[in-house]
Amino acid sequence: MAAPRAGRQPQNDGYRSLSLSGHVGFDSLPDQLVNKSIKQGFCFNILCIGETGTGKSTLIDSLFNTSFDDPVSTHFQPNVRLRAQTYELQESNVRLKLTVVNTVGFGDQINKEDSYQPIVDYIDAQFEAYLQEELKIKRSLFSYHDTRIHACLYFISPTGHSLKTLDLLTMKSLDSKVNIIPIISKADSISKTELQMFKNKLMSELVSNDVQIYQFPTDDETVSQVNTIMNGHLPFAVVGSTEEVKIGNKMVKARQYPWGIVQVENENHCDFVKLREMLICTNMEDLREQTHARHYELYRRCRLEEMGFRDIGPENKPVSLQEAYEAKRHEFYLELQRKEEEMRQHFVQRVKEKETILKEAEQQIQTKFDHLMLMHQEEKLKLEKKKRALEDDMAMFNKKKANAELLQTQAFVSTPVVSLKRDKDRKNSGFM
Ligand code: GTP
Ligand code: MG
Repeated sequence: MAAPRAGRQPQNDGYRSLSLSGHVGFDSLPDQLVNKSIKQGFCFNILCIGETGTGKSTLIDSLFNTSFDDPVSTHFQPNVRLRAQTYELQESNVRLKLTVVNTVGFGDQINKEDSYQPIVDYIDAQFEAYLQEELKIKRSLFSYHDTRIHACLYFISPTGHSLKTLDLLTMKSLDSKVNIIPIISKADSISKTELQMFKNKLMSELVSNDVQIYQFPTDDETVSQVNTIMNGHLPFAVVGSTEEVKIGNKMVKARQYPWGIVQVENENHCDFVKLREMLICTNMEDLREQTHARHYELYRRCRLEEMGFRDIGPENKPVSLQEAYEAKRHEFYLELQRKEEEMRQHFVQRVKEKETILKEAEQQIQTKFDHLMLMHQEEKLKLEKKKRALEDDMAMFNKKKANAELLQTQAFVSTPVVSLKRDKDRKNSGFM
């Protein structure tokens, strides 16, 4: 068997690897990428979930070494809402567009059932906005302000007990949508031994309730060691402060108490530095990547499937987007026709029903009319009979009247002859 020629590697997965005999220049690609990214700037979005006054704003101020002037919330919010604020930060020549989203009124309502729904809706709304931009014919993803949440800092109150039901429910409903980093806030209010027990308890509760929290990646060998160690310290117990205290000849962020000083950046006092290192210095890019490749991908897949798009057809054959679109269009067309037919049938049925009702009403009116006509006829006949009787009576009366008049006339005519004769008789008798 002939040995492979110099500069040529054996065939590998359908393509060949070749070696170069001189400098070409594409080894500058990583630098080109870095330069381009620096020019474009970066974007990072943090969601802080925690009860009112758990130290969210103070921690974010401490993490980014600035004051974001986040307004304080009251405990009297009727429901949970989210407040997003975007800031432009710069460190050396790297620009960062940072969005901090805070829950307002979380855990303050008597009925906490719907406390996490506004958070789920907010995260979904950011995914949906990105998906809509992606689906546009004319996309501008390069300049698009990506508001998808990259990291969710979940603030657990330092009770020393166990997780509250609200915490478990909220984390459970979010773990497939966002990278959850649980933290114990105000950790200066819990003792060292209690803290370790509390951490163990929280972790075992998260595991037993199958809540997936973000694990610092261990597949990249440059960070695998530190990330493995840090995974063992979760959840980080942090202290935040915007106050600076002079320790030795240095001003440090700290909280002062009558019995001593808690230094925010002292690893013996709390895990603040660990959190900052892991969140910002080591894994910020991984959090961004996980958001896009895992959480957004899942959202996108579910949404597209909901819209009727599939990669695989009914016979387990791959289906192109075009085919899926045509099939869905046809399905909609058939559905539309079915609905149209249904509506037509419904309309015909309604018309028939109305016709029957009208016919019945007409019939009733006709019967009523016939009845009235009959009554009218009967009444008319009765009246006519009465009229005839009256006419007969009148005729009789007139006849009688005529007879009476005739008799009277005859009587009048015979009266003068009698009186003349009477006068003559009287004269003859000498009465005159
Ligand atoms: P809302 O936004 O109003 O819900 O509050 P928040 O969660 O942003 O809390 P914020 O940072 O305003 O802090 C509330 C109070 O807790 C302030 O008095 C802070 O000084 C105090 N606080 C913040 N961080 C810590 C901490 O680590 N330990 C202790 N003991 N107190 C803290
Ligand atoms: Mg706040």
